[in-house]
Amino acid sequence: MIAYGAGTAAIEVVPTGFALGAEIRGIDARKPVPPETAKTLREAWKQHLVLLFRGQTGLTDQQLITFTQVFGPLQAAPNSDVTAGFGSFADVPPEVAVISNIKVDGRPIGALGAGEADWHTDMSFIEEPPAGSCLYAIEVPASGGNTSFINMHRALDTLDEEMADAVNGVQCVHDLSLTSTGSRRQGVAEVADVRETPGARHPVLRTHPDTKRKALFLGRRRNAWLVGFEVEDSERLLDCLWAHATDEAHVWEHRWREGDIVLWDNRAVMHRRDAFDPATRRLMHRTQVKGGRPR
Ligand code: OGA
Ligand code: MN
Repeated sequence: MIAYGAGTAAIEVVPTGFALGAEIRGIDARKPVPPETAKTLREAWKQHLVLLFRGQTGLTDQQLITFTQVFGPLQAAPNSDVTAGFGSFADVPPEVAVISNIKVDGRPIGALGAGEADWHTDMSFIEEPPAGSCLYAIEVPASGGNTSFINMHRALDTLDEEMADAVNGVQCVHDLSLTSTGSRRQGVAEVADVRETPGARHPVLRTHPDTKRKALFLGRRRNAWLVGFEVEDSERLLDCLWAHATDEAHVWEHRWREGDIVLWDNRAVMHRRDAFDPATRRLMHRTQVKGGRPR
């Protein structure tokens, strides 16, 4: 644990002890973050890739937006265009995505329902996916719905050299037709051949723009294709890469409490979510930090 700052402004960075993630203590996200503290938070984010802030109950959307801006300018929530069907109809600012299984008058107020969400990187199917996502827990069920994270720097560092060489300079297609829970986005045809998967193409090996560290970038498994490969070869190699990346040694699992804010770095992290009892309520608001084209 490292304590920063003097007197009243001290914050603590407490690593999870797993492959990534740290809890930050001493922050009240409702209040403006002083510039020195903001710098410390950005440094901690670079180092730990996922930051957890507990006890932030009662935040307004505007306070969540202002807090997220400590980490960069925001990107609009995926409620339109190619991502239509993400599911929100709740009355929230354009920066906020609602992640929830709650229905009002039979209509979901948010995305992802109560099912399992497979390993993915948020919005990796667009040309410039968000650098970060910030998920704020407003209501959580007593059990289920845990969210896990993978350190994709670690996944690459421990990948065998032959496999790393095999994907050096290779691009992968990131499917936009399905959400992480496997439901098809509005107006997008079913993929019959992965060579025709709609979605952005990104390098499998990417370099983090801030730290210059390399990371494995897989995005989402369904309908993925290593561009230019025979489908069979692409499938075999992708299966190997995914089996390695999702090894428990690279994972930290978070069990939510109301008032948690969790911020992750999409450039070096994948995440998944457990299913939970659909008869219980789970309500999260998410903001996105703007990102650039993966390189
Ligand atoms: C997300 C997501 C996981 C969760 O908001 O991008 O994958 O725990 N959510 O709901
Ligand atoms: Mn996600």
